[in-house]
Amino acid sequence: MIQITNQMESLLISQPFSQIPADALAILVFAEEAPPAELVSFSKWLDELRESGEFAGKPGELAVLHQSFGAWPAGIAARRVAVVGAGRRDAFDAAAVRKGVGSAVRTLKQKGVKTLAWWLAPADPAAFVEAAVEGAILGNYEPDVHKTSSKESKSLERFSLAVPSLAGETQAAFERGKILANAQNFTRDLVNEPANLMTPIILADRARAMAAEAGLECEVLDQDRMRQLGMGSLLGVAQGSAEPPALIVVRYRPASQPKSGDHLGLVGKGVTFDTGGVSIKPAEGMEKMKYDMAGGAAVLGAMRAIAQLKPSIPVTALVPAVENMVGARAQRPGDIVTSLSGKTVEVLNTDAEGRLILIDALTYAQRLGCTHLVDAATLTGAIVVALGHVNIGAFTNNEAMLARVLAAAKAEGEKTWPMPLDEDYKDLLKSAFADLANIGGRWGGAISAAWFLREFTGDTPWVHLDIAGTAWLDEAKPHLAKGPSGVCVRTFSNLAVNWPVQ
Ligand code: BES
Ligand code: ZN
Ligand code: ZN
Repeated sequence: MIQITNQMESLLISQPFSQIPADALAILVFAEEAPPAELVSFSKWLDELRESGEFAGKPGELAVLHQSFGAWPAGIAARRVAVVGAGRRDAFDAAAVRKGVGSAVRTLKQKGVKTLAWWLAPADPAAFVEAAVEGAILGNYEPDVHKTSSKESKSLERFSLAVPSLAGETQAAFERGKILANAQNFTRDLVNEPANLMTPIILADRARAMAAEAGLECEVLDQDRMRQLGMGSLLGVAQGSAEPPALIVVRYRPASQPKSGDHLGLVGKGVTFDTGGVSIKPAEGMEKMKYDMAGGAAVLGAMRAIAQLKPSIPVTALVPAVENMVGARAQRPGDIVTSLSGKTVEVLNTDAEGRLILIDALTYAQRLGCTHLVDAATLTGAIVVALGHVNIGAFTNNEAMLARVLAAAKAEGEKTWPMPLDEDYKDLLKSAFADLANIGGRWGGAISAAWFLREFTGDTPWVHLDIAGTAWLDEAKPHLAKGPSGVCVRTFSNLAVNWPVQ
């Protein structure tokens, strides 16, 4: 196994509340309700918490009682009991479980807890089991691989989820949660690497290693091969860097081909660093542009999960990987390149490079037989203006395809919002000298970027996800560390797994 940062052991157990041994045993308490029966012997403590206003069961609240406390009830094996606010029951769902467990993990690990057990109520559905283990694995992650001494961040060594019975459905949900969250942390590790340690070639090597381990096929097209094929748009971006580009292709094939002939293509922007090129970006904040390969990393993480979840349709991932640099060989504003599709593009701004590499990958995906396409890209600052850091922006040429992606995103709690892409915006990309310009003017920048991609999707149902605002957390959240979020890994995996088979 390729080691993922802070990987912990996660177990599904079935034991009575009182007998669970752990540094801390956590249990949800709902607002405006009597505490769960497991806590009867703690009722005095809970009454005091409520009266003092310290804990009323609201989301984000947490209180800890130690065994060393005088009135510790006899027969409770855990060393600490933590009550975690769940909010009102009618507003409680899988996303709340994921956040609640994640926040508790992040608080408790800082308090030195190494082994945490989590009590789930008997009536809780399988979706909560899945979300709970996801919350724990995601919450335990810290982007600290490059800190050599005095790590500020502590981590859990073991997370045990206690359920009333180890039914097959429960076990399957637990496994699914583990697979998805570990895949998401794999993606976060890739995104977290600085650009000197994550070049296009290194990204390709990591993809190869992941594929070999997961039992997937992997092929990497090098610069010569891309030149032979005619990927002039991708190569134009790559030419300014001393780091050679790579087009990473990873394939999953199901045991038997579905009759429908459906074949899902996942395409992810893999700009390992975006200086802007000759249309250079301001120095302030430029260091963040190491996350410009977050779409590519998400696609690779999804493939890692897909290899284990084994959906019934074939899935091919494509990651065009390049570094967008300034230099003597860099492309200039005004350069005209010929894309793999044959269409020519006038590069009016070298900082709009994501779309230039994606169009050659989208065309190539169709040549490889993909019948449905989804791409994820940190494509525009404009999507951050439009949707902030909360929602992914979704664009499509096919409403039915969009509905599938939105359903997958909703099921996984990855907020995604549909954006317009009507014909009226198309003219923004007119060029006087080539078939298309690579920018569309000041307004509606996320939409003109999406239209640019759409010009290369033909009739193939396609959804574009702009993740510029959601792939990186500028500040930690209660349930997630600062840094790469790994967004889209769960949505993509869910989309493949729940693909309707005919
Ligand atoms: N990688 C950036 C988009 C981006 C901006 C991602 C901020 C994350 C945070 C992309 O390559 C880019 O530079 N886009 C330009 C397009 C413009 C030149 C039309 C942008 O958004 O400013
Ligand atoms: Zn750019
Ligand atoms: Zn970029």
